[in-house]
Amino acid sequence: MKNKTILIQGAMDIEVEYLIAQLEKKEKHTIAGYEFYTGYIHTSKLIVSKTLVGVVNATTSTTIGIMTFQPDIVINQGIAGAHKSNIHIGDIIIGKKCCNINAFSMPTKHKGYSSNPFEWEPNKRGEEIQSGDEKLVSTFKEFFESYNENTIYTGTLGSGDVFNREYDRITWLQNRFNHLCEDMESIGTYSVCNRFKIPRIGIRIVSNNELTNERLDKEQAVILQKLFIDFFNEIFSF
Ligand code: 5AD
Repeated sequence: MKNKTILIQGAMDIEVEYLIAQLEKKEKHTIAGYEFYTGYIHTSKLIVSKTLVGVVNATTSTTIGIMTFQPDIVINQGIAGAHKSNIHIGDIIIGKKCCNINAFSMPTKHKGYSSNPFEWEPNKRGEEIQSGDEKLVSTFKEFFESYNENTIYTGTLGSGDVFNREYDRITWLQNRFNHLCEDMESIGTYSVCNRFKIPRIGIRIVSNNELTNERLDKEQAVILQKLFIDFFNEIFSF
């Protein structure tokens, strides 16, 4: 990451605090309520961005971050729920692709005809697949595989303003989108970076799996940040 400016994002305090604490020559910038911390780790120039939770916040803060700091690369990272039963807490998913799993159209049903989400179909936004940067995918895959004892997956990140907790709904979504996990921000980041043509990658550590009853463990967010610090301390050239 030599000589590159990297915008690295996390939604919640627990997803950015460790990174912020490691920054040298740290400066805080608050724009429209979104916090950005500039500084250095080893030779990497970083902007740590607290996006806040959800797609609207991720989209807004990514736009502000790009226009203000002109990063060369954007990394969206944090915790996510696994949407496959063989993926467990602590496993890491690198987003080769990202899709909006919360954008649907539905048949009309009149008063008293109830609601059946299994009849919904992805709308135009739901069918759009955003790509991660291939070089970033392979670089992080190689790095994480050498450093982390848990399984590393590359595949599709599912993203939307929803925390699904119904087994049958998750299975239905997984059959439709073939994604590995669910978060609430990465689709905002991928979409904005795509428009600005900035290399982007979403990396998520699994904090819960509703299919296997693995309960939310937010501390996984810290483990992932520690891996990023190790990464920035290594010398990688792009
Ligand atoms: N579904 C949706 N978002 C999740 N997150 C962690 N697990 C899940 C899940 N199963 C992340 C989101 C959001 C916060 C609730 O944690 O990205 O920031």
